[in-house]
Amino acid sequence: MASNEKQVLLHVEDLKVTFGKKKHEFTAVKGVSFDIYKGETFGLVGESGSGKTTIGRAIIRIHPTAGGKVIYDGKQINGSISKELDKEVTRKLQMIFQDPMASLNERAKVDYIVSEGLYNIPGITPQQRREKVAKALADVGLLPEFASRFPHEFSGGQRQRIGIARALIMEPEFIIADEPISALDVSIRAQVLNLLAKLQKERNLTYLFISHDLSVMRFICDRIAVIHKGLLVEMADSEQLFAHPLHPYTRALLSAIPQPDPLKERKKVLEVYDPSCHDYSVDKPVWTEIEPGHFILGNQKELTEYREKLKA
Ligand SMILES: Nc1ncnc2c1ncn2[C@@H]1O[C@H](COP(=O)(O)OP(=O)(O)O)[C@@H](O)[C@H]1O
Ligand SMILES: [Mg+2]
Repeated sequence: MASNEKQVLLHVEDLKVTFGKKKHEFTAVKGVSFDIYKGETFGLVGESGSGKTTIGRAIIRIHPTAGGKVIYDGKQINGSISKELDKEVTRKLQMIFQDPMASLNERAKVDYIVSEGLYNIPGITPQQRREKVAKALADVGLLPEFASRFPHEFSGGQRQRIGIARALIMEPEFIIADEPISALDVSIRAQVLNLLAKLQKERNLTYLFISHDLSVMRFICDRIAVIHKGLLVEMADSEQLFAHPLHPYTRALLSAIPQPDPLKERKKVLEVYDPSCHDYSVDKPVWTEIEPGHFILGNQKELTEYREKLKA
């Protein structure tokens, strides 16, 4: 997509999410801001427990926000909103989950699992529902007769396809794919990624792709944001992030990616991220656009160093 025709579909501003109450309150997302453009794949990467799933769940209103704004297609969708807008969000924004085993109701048949979201839309007849299920199954490469089976009868890859059909049946615009291939055998991961890419092209879908693994993201994401302990530390075009990673946490994630060349792999020095490398006692970190489209969290001293690195 040419840069001059970028349209912001999702605007997230200073998003905060907490768990628990008062004394035991834990802030999982500490003020995160990013835009996602229509039609792009935006990657969110960080280690387990960094707040990725929580951000996804906050966007689709499964979990309440403790602060900040989520603006979808120009409308604020967090906090208290009208019933009408809630319905719109429930249809247009869909999430597919990490573990298809855990996220599918084992006692429900595939036709119910896939069509569950349709029950909230008035005026759909059983006949129409059956047709929509058959169409959604076909769209993800599954046979119509699978509708009358149970999830345990399927392989991991097929289960993830069922999860995708469940999202597609709502005719969404925006899909949050939360570690959609992490639980799958390596041999079928590419198939699921290819399916997601094909669907995106055909339907002009916008993706928020969540993963703890930076290596897969390079090839599927237009832009990538790196999250550490509930805060974004760096965000850039994928190529830029791989070519000029600045934040020590991003560098550590990148250095953990195995090199195809065994000789290089053996000689490689793993970078370890130690948050105590930042002295934020006086000079506080600010989320800064260090070059066009490339954002980083750093204090004034670090930003000066990062700018010098970019010049070199
Ligand atoms: N329902 C919950 N109750 C309490 N804490 C939670 C809950 N869900 C997630 N957390 C905590 O919030 C943090 C972020 O979790 P999560 O968003 O699942 O991380 P990620 O998806 O990046 O692995 C973690 O410390 C996790 O323990
Ligand atoms: Mg998660």
